[in-house]
Amino acid sequence: MIVGIIGGTGGIGKGMALRLSQNHEVIIGSRKEEKACASCETCKELLLELGLPFNLTPTTNQGVVDLSDIVVFSIPAETLNSTINSLKNLEGKIIISLMNPMERDTYFRYTPPEEGSAAQQLQKLLPDSKVIAAFNNIPAKKWSQLSEPLDYSVCVCGDDDKSKKLVMELVNSISKLEALDAGPLAISATIEAITPLVINIARLNRMHDVGVYFR
Ligand SMILES: NC(=O)c1ccc[n+]([C@@H]2O[C@H](COP(=O)([O-])OP(=O)(O)OC[C@H]3O[C@@H](n4cnc5c(N)ncnc54)[C@H](OP(=O)(O)O)[C@@H]3O)[C@@H](O)[C@H]2O)c1
Repeated sequence: MIVGIIGGTGGIGKGMALRLSQNHEVIIGSRKEEKACASCETCKELLLELGLPFNLTPTTNQGVVDLSDIVVFSIPAETLNSTINSLKNLEGKIIISLMNPMERDTYFRYTPPEEGSAAQQLQKLLPDSKVIAAFNNIPAKKWSQLSEPLDYSVCVCGDDDKSKKLVMELVNSISKLEALDAGPLAISATIEAITPLVINIARLNRMHDVGVYFR
């Protein structure tokens, strides 16, 4: 399975590339190919320095769609419409949404689109793709801290059981992540809303990079 990351140059995208490319073929995407190349070089240097294996290729966001079996949308949720309009051939792909629409005033609050959640908005925009929500609640910094295991529960939801199972296998192949079946895509709003909750908890209680572990 080739996993491509749209917005693979961002905080989450880069960290995901660092972790995933150790045992999967990973494509880093960007609106600008040269930005993807620079990000890819940084990841490769770090992985080489640590003596870790990797399989990483930089390209454009369209290149990600063309080359990947699983396409991760790792962009700010508010840029979803314009990004989809700039891409073609997403039909039939498994799409992972980890986007959490939120706003900040004195605290962070969840601001879902009218479809209910970012994942549901994505599914509406791409009716012929299989959208699965996963990885929503893992802090970016933790993805990149390769000296530490990534030790969280990952809620996975979606309407296509085969795709959900595949994404759960992908989750379980990364460090110490534990995939949990959270149900249909309609549940994605509940999962996305956890992220502003944990950020507020981190800020108010002087904690860092709070994540979720169900036990
Ligand atoms: N940060 C976290 O801890 C965290 C945790 C869980 C989930 N998430 C979710 O993961 C997603 C990515 O988060 P992030 O912190 O990595 O975001 P980010 O660094 O702000 O952005 C990620 C990438 O999105 C692309 N991008 C920015 N503006 C864009 C636009 N107008 N149109 C198209 N692409 C654009 C950029 O890539 P190029 O310039 O290379 O195209 C950028 O590197 C978000 O939806 C967030 O809610 C974040």
